[in-house]
Amino acid sequence: MKGLFITFEGIDGCGKTTQIEMLSGDLQKEGIPFVLIREPGGTSIGEKIRTILLDKANSGMDERTELLLYEAARAQIVREKIIPELQSGKVVICDRFYDSTIAYQGYARGLDLKEIDFLNNWSAAGIKPDITFLLDLDEETAYRRRHGRSDEEDRLEAEGLLFMKKVRGGYLSRSKEDARFQVLDALKTPEEIYQQIRKTVWEVVQK
Ligand code: TMP
Repeated sequence: MKGLFITFEGIDGCGKTTQIEMLSGDLQKEGIPFVLIREPGGTSIGEKIRTILLDKANSGMDERTELLLYEAARAQIVREKIIPELQSGKVVICDRFYDSTIAYQGYARGLDLKEIDFLNNWSAAGIKPDITFLLDLDEETAYRRRHGRSDEEDRLEAEGLLFMKKVRGGYLSRSKEDARFQVLDALKTPEEIYQQIRKTVWEVVQK
């Protein structure tokens, strides 16, 4: 495929949104065609699934239901948006992708990693990110950052510190298995972090 597929990952409160905004701003300034999407969501069907997933009223959701809803949203966005945009040569920036499922539903919820890998590849039609930026942050700092924001916690954010610690550990384990990961220290300033992101992305887009 012609485009470039970049994903951002990390625990809730790690600072992904700021980095994604900085990268999008730069791509726009330099006239590099890109699209920005998020998971779960990014399509009208996916946004409806997102509402179900994040609704705190759904506290009784079985973890398998949760897994399949994330995969359902993914199956839709991959075929409706990601593959066509990559085929047209664009940079696709995705705020979370299937590594979130490994970290949250696998390492934190405890569902089987091999089964999740199978479902991830199935819903993603075998496509793989070219670059994955993992913003690594300890769960306490992430929690404090989230509570400095005005928006209310969603169902996943309300899971607590131990859950986020497992998510973080899951991401770090996964990152060692695949060279597409770039692990960034999210305690650094947004500008420092962004310098690394820009360097990596520009090395590829300028080729
Ligand atoms: P967001 O707040 O970063 O938009 O993500 C929504 C929440 O969904 C976040 O807490 C992470 C979680 N999530 C999973 O548990 N599994 C997944 O596969 C994805 C994509 C997100």
